[in-house]
Amino acid sequence: MCGIVGAASARNIVPLLIDGIRRLEYRGYDSTGLAVIDTNAEVPVLARLVSTARVADLALQAESLRLVGTVGISHTRWATHGAPTPVNAHPHTSGGEIAVVHNGIIENYEALRAKLQMQGYLFATETDTEVIAHLVHSHWHAAGGGDLRRAVEAAIAEFHGAYAIAVISTREPGRLVGARQGSPLVVGYGEDDHFLASDAAALLSVTRRVAYLEEGDVADLRRESCVITDAHGERVERGIVNVEASGASVELGPYRHFMQKEIFEQPRAVSDTLEGVAVIGPHLFGPAAAHILPQVDSVLILACGTSYYSSLVAKQWIESLAKIPCAVEIASEYRYRDSVPSPTALVIVVSQSGETADTLAALKHAKSLGHTRTLTICNVPTSSMVRQTELTYLTRAGVEVGVASTKAFTTQLIAHFLLALTLAKLRHRLPIEDEANWLRGLRHLPAALQSALALEPQVIAWAEQFAKKQDALFLGRGIHYPIALEGALKLKEISYIHAEAYPAGELKHGPLALVDSSMPVVAIAPNDALLEKLKSNLQEVRARGGELYVVADLDSHLQSSEGIHVIRLPEHAGLLSPVVHTIPLQLLAYHTAVIRGTDVDKPRNLAKSVTVE
Ligand code: M6R
Repeated sequence: MCGIVGAASARNIVPLLIDGIRRLEYRGYDSTGLAVIDTNAEVPVLARLVSTARVADLALQAESLRLVGTVGISHTRWATHGAPTPVNAHPHTSGGEIAVVHNGIIENYEALRAKLQMQGYLFATETDTEVIAHLVHSHWHAAGGGDLRRAVEAAIAEFHGAYAIAVISTREPGRLVGARQGSPLVVGYGEDDHFLASDAAALLSVTRRVAYLEEGDVADLRRESCVITDAHGERVERGIVNVEASGASVELGPYRHFMQKEIFEQPRAVSDTLEGVAVIGPHLFGPAAAHILPQVDSVLILACGTSYYSSLVAKQWIESLAKIPCAVEIASEYRYRDSVPSPTALVIVVSQSGETADTLAALKHAKSLGHTRTLTICNVPTSSMVRQTELTYLTRAGVEVGVASTKAFTTQLIAHFLLALTLAKLRHRLPIEDEANWLRGLRHLPAALQSALALEPQVIAWAEQFAKKQDALFLGRGIHYPIALEGALKLKEISYIHAEAYPAGELKHGPLALVDSSMPVVAIAPNDALLEKLKSNLQEVRARGGELYVVADLDSHLQSSEGIHVIRLPEHAGLLSPVVHTIPLQLLAYHTAVIRGTDVDKPRNLAKSVTVE
């Protein structure tokens, strides 16, 4: 989704503005742009470039124009207000003097636009961001000029909504001003320069030393100075931290797509996530957990998308192992409904990126309701979410580039299982021999995932059939229903085939009407207590001519026959079986999308990190 980079330096910053947004490319975007001022020029002018192609195109344009600048801003845009056209691409400018890049949404932009139009400002774009440029311009001139920070402060005082912005002006050419509310923004400290970015990862080629701005902060940067003020205009210090560069490679290597690479990285990702887990206990979730977790008597999990589906598995594990009630809510729904807070509940936010706006807002809402016991399960150690909860479990999936989440999902499942075991142990429900057995089962998972990946040729044969379809149904029961949901999400997300998932018992209450010979039905059928019930559901499908694609495992006693295609995982993983059953469904979505020729890693309309509401 949208990404911001800014720099104030004595050297030419065009290459690093481009390198910074290139590092954010994987999050998804549909246009890109930059604006720079050369402070060494006799007359500082604003140079702006945009592209609706890739960042590489912006780099080519900058190169062919021999663009040079010492202060500047760059951006990747994921369209919200207005189509992804060159005119709507950021930066947006006002009076040829002010340039702005913006993440988030200004909710009252229409009222502000009307007010600015009355003042004579002409609008060239459909964006909410252009309002920011004109508003800063208007405040700068109204104050008689001379203070870009004050003009930005006056402008943001009029905004409703979430934003991170970076602003430059030819009137004060050495200055770069950033502000944030609801969207992340960091200040980077270089040798002899200062930077802004929406994600510290964007700055890794120039600095690892960053300070995370807090809600309402304004950062006033020059090459040689950095002044941060808080929401009340008071000067504040925000601690500088050293960001670790990710050890994981973001190179494609021998793979055709990042999603394929990430699917095949799962045995490694799971074993990395389990590294150092020698004994089950609160210590796994941070130093404060020994005090907090024993007091927990219920759990509320908030998440979106794939992270929500992993959390649905968590609910079943927590309730069956620890016997603690667990509710799971879609973050974007939770924050807007009246709920009944329980002060003794543990609120967990689950997110690959740790930047999902809906999940961050849900956490804020939970805190506003009095929830104080909070845990983040996340894959990005430097993310906003990790810094906002008392407890943390970091999954170690490594950088996930494909928009369709894969290894983040399976490693989240590991974190959830460890939490369920920990809560069970604290409630004296985990005998020592069970703990040893579960730890053995977890350590065996990488090998079990490897065996599941070896089924790829059989899954490709299925994908050849799916690629011709318009719709698909996914069925699962118990802990495998969320896996059916995840399989359907993966398929629709990257192959654009309409897919829905149901608990198999629900079939006869409606969806069975959809089943005919053109409807492929995927069933997750491990050898568990629900297998016999599931088999009856599958008969219901077969009797209507539905074509069945069954992911079974050892001893499921299901054979391929007319209209029934069975892929068998070589072993049964018990309660951990959702982790293993996910693999064939990821491969099915991947190969179906490849056959259909879609943009697998960057599916249309979607972004990796959803930083707007
Ligand atoms: O970064 P998060 O886990 O918070 O992201 C939540 C969803 O946006 C994400 O899981 C989305 O559903 C994926 N594209 C699914 O593959």
